[in-house]
Amino acid sequence: MLADEITTLGYTVTAHDPTGVEIQGTLHDAMRLNLQSRIAMRVLSLIETFPCDSPDQLAQTASEIAWEMIVPAGGYLSITSTIRHPSIDNTMFANLRLKDAIVDRIRSVHGRRPDSGPLRTGTVIHLHWHGNTAQIWVDTSGQKLSDRGYRRMPHHAPLRETLAAAILHRTGWRGDTPLVIPMCGSGTLAIEGALMATGRPPGLLRSGFAFQHLYGFNPQLWADLRREVTPKKPRRGKTNAPPIIATDIDPDAIEATRRNAETAGVGHLIETAVCDFADTEMPDEAGHVILHPEYGLRMGEEETLKSLYGYMGDFLKQRCGGWSGWIFTGNLDLAKCVGLRPASRVPMRHAKVDARLLGYELWTGTREQESPTT
Ligand SMILES: C[S@@+](CC[C@H](N)C(=O)[O-])C[C@H]1O[C@@H](n2cnc3c(N)ncnc32)[C@H](O)[C@@H]1O
Repeated sequence: MLADEITTLGYTVTAHDPTGVEIQGTLHDAMRLNLQSRIAMRVLSLIETFPCDSPDQLAQTASEIAWEMIVPAGGYLSITSTIRHPSIDNTMFANLRLKDAIVDRIRSVHGRRPDSGPLRTGTVIHLHWHGNTAQIWVDTSGQKLSDRGYRRMPHHAPLRETLAAAILHRTGWRGDTPLVIPMCGSGTLAIEGALMATGRPPGLLRSGFAFQHLYGFNPQLWADLRREVTPKKPRRGKTNAPPIIATDIDPDAIEATRRNAETAGVGHLIETAVCDFADTEMPDEAGHVILHPEYGLRMGEEETLKSLYGYMGDFLKQRCGGWSGWIFTGNLDLAKCVGLRPASRVPMRHAKVDARLLGYELWTGTREQESPTT
């Protein structure tokens, strides 16, 4: 999904694995991706790949990198890492060796050194050391990109904003037909949908990125880039956005959705209602309907959810003919209670839960007469 999004943004994906996609680009491209990608969690820029078999070798190689051209001497530095190597049983130790190599190098050039600590509020360097190969990256995002800044009021089991965007992307909804989100919780799917439909880059909502703390960062270029990707305001009262409807049985969830949508600047684009999902008013024109129920991961909850999953199947079958219907769940047994055969099953992870995005072909009339929309 990410590879697809990055390609749509105009880049050529040169490699990918289950955790990331790779492109060739400049710092300007990294800034643009931080602003525009809805699905990526971080944008990292590779500094060096090298053979590494010990903390000494890590420190030696790191001290040969021109950090004075990357990290401002008066700034703040933090190190993150993922390490799988027999010589390291505490990643803090490797992080410390890398940090010392960086600040010592900067002090030897400038006579002073950056402060350092755990906060991702300044320059962030990431060490990826698996087996005999280490890579040092600049993490240009800092705080993960899912932290858009609009979700001031979380509700039960919210989706990460990037996961919600990936779900929308995978369902094939492209922002020009109605979107209905019953069981909306804190509104993440509806808000991400409204941002997509109006072409608003999610990064515009954030207060800052780690690349702003790189040596040589140019605030003017950054301001120009933000202006370039900001969609033009529609004329007063005019909006081409399709209806986006978010409902939930819990009034607190709807309050959270409204407030979060206001914070994201899309409050006027989302119709909300407190109701059972089955009573959600569906627009006349067919579009996408996405349900994200609870998974019943705690003891005893699963039994009560079985009938709820069954009702969701009835709702899709009886009220959503001609629509593209989707259920996102982390409980594969409960998914069987929906009673409809999914046309697609997309594996995804929600926090540490193995989840599925299930797509259903919903027919109007008889199967022979009509075509499905998924
Ligand atoms: C897993 S949460 C959805 C989280 C949401 N996707 C988000 O990102 O915040 C499930 C939601 O379903 C709602 N819910 C449970 N039973 C419902 C019902 N019968 N009708 C409507 N909403 C229901 C709950 O109130 C809860 O907000």
